[in-house]
Amino acid sequence: MLGLLAALVAAASDETRAETPAERGRYLATVGDCVACHTAPGGTPFAGGRAIETPFGPIIAPNLTPDRASGLGAWSDADFLRALRRGLRPDGARLYPACPYVYFSAVRDEDLLAIRAFLATLTPVANPARGAGFGFPFNLRPLMVFWDALYFRPAPFVADPGRSMAWNRGAYLVEGLGHCGACHGAKGALGADPEPGVLGGGRVRGWFAPDLGGDPRAGLGGWSLDDIERYLATGSNGRALAAGPMAEVVENSTARLTMADLRAIALYLKQDAPLSQPAAAPSPVPNGRIGAAIYADACAACHRANGEGVPGLFPRLAGSSAVQSARPDTLITVVLHGGRAAATGAAPTGPAMPALGWRLDDASVAAVLTYIRSAWGNEAAPVSSEAVRRGR
Ligand code: HEC
Ligand code: HEC
Ligand code: HEC
Repeated sequence: MLGLLAALVAAASDETRAETPAERGRYLATVGDCVACHTAPGGTPFAGGRAIETPFGPIIAPNLTPDRASGLGAWSDADFLRALRRGLRPDGARLYPACPYVYFSAVRDEDLLAIRAFLATLTPVANPARGAGFGFPFNLRPLMVFWDALYFRPAPFVADPGRSMAWNRGAYLVEGLGHCGACHGAKGALGADPEPGVLGGGRVRGWFAPDLGGDPRAGLGGWSLDDIERYLATGSNGRALAAGPMAEVVENSTARLTMADLRAIALYLKQDAPLSQPAAAPSPVPNGRIGAAIYADACAACHRANGEGVPGLFPRLAGSSAVQSARPDTLITVVLHGGRAAATGAAPTGPAMPALGWRLDDASVAAVLTYIRSAWGNEAAPVSSEAVRRGR
């Protein structure tokens, strides 16, 4: 069942495109943006020779044309699959993950072999340039065996049957050939890539590739599907302009994708977004001064002016997730009706929070709760008098 779904996803928008594997491969190589790295400035496309900057030093992306001596002419299909999926050359040498094989390992055999079929149609060019200018100990390729063991989990793409076909197609493109996380994910120690779906923002060649998650300020929370499609198709959408490495990605890759695939990518990016943002978004604080005054008068004796509370007696409100929870219902209840901490063996009766509903009107409760949800570094949406009235 999952295998079938994966096959449908891989084929999802293929029917509008070409028939021969080589034609399909040309398109898939565009998704993978192989040309960006594997072409020297001003050189023949795919003939290699470009030095890619990495935090460890420069590394040359080699020749992918079918030249027998310096390119892929003598490689078998199995050699090609092993290189792109496992990072292993035919002679057993390990490739550095500067070639995003960590992502390509998710790509189906048929798609990788289509890329190979396309590369085989290119005119052979002799260009033996290869190698890395890494410093010790990163210059020792055999050590990559440890890197692979630590950081590399080759895993085929698994479709999510709970999501639409288009979403799955987007996931397959972003997490696989598109290798968006190679720039948009933060690299860990020794350049380890994050999980393929982690797109929280990362550094690349002196640029910052922003968070592609749902955060309304840092991420794409405020972007519509059309905004994303337009950006990927043209490099600008009135909100942002693609520059630096993303300009290259747009030019060589995303601007050449079908509208169906761009829509799939946009759907995946939007629907993968964390759903919690509206409550967490900071908002202007109404009655800030009034809330602070009520707090000083009615709460600070126990919870302290700085919200730190008293260990074992009065809970800490600063940094408390209860205080910042998305829905303020619990807070309203505690202030209106009081409460009692769980009685434990160590504190059998438990100190009590007094009911203050008789003392404070709705607007005052709303103001003091809004205050504690925004003071001392807390960040949560304000509480309305209306919500307090409902809680009475
Ligand atoms: C971000 C840059 C980058 C992208 C994108 C990229 N590569 Fe690479 N590739 C490299 C680098 C750098 C190396 C050399 C790695 C090494 O020497 O260890 C490499 C090595 C390879 C090799 C091994 C060749 C040899 O002779 O050792 C193959 C095959 C390959 N890439 C194919 C591809 C294909 C196909 C794509 C697109 C689907 C692609 N690469 C996309 C940077 C890239
Ligand atoms: C080679 C590195 C690289 C790759 C690969 C890459 N990006 Fe980017 N991306 C960037 C950088 C850098 C920026 C910021 C560009 C700027 O500030 O002009 C960016 C910006 C973006 C933005 C605009 C975000 C904003 O808040 O302004 C979107 C959307 C985006 N990329 C989507 C993608 C998708 C989808 C993929 C995969 C198909 C992808 N990128 C692959 C480097 C990359
Ligand atoms: C007499 C001391 C006292 C006063 C005054 C007091 N509290 Fe409390 N508060 C407590 C105690 C004890 C608890 C823990 C037991 C409980 O849940 O009722 C508590 C619990 C809370 C909680 C739940 C915290 C959590 O982590 O679950 C909130 C929120 C709270 N108080 C807010 C307030 C506010 C706002 C005021 C002023 C309007 C206030 N308290 C006044 C003693 C007090």
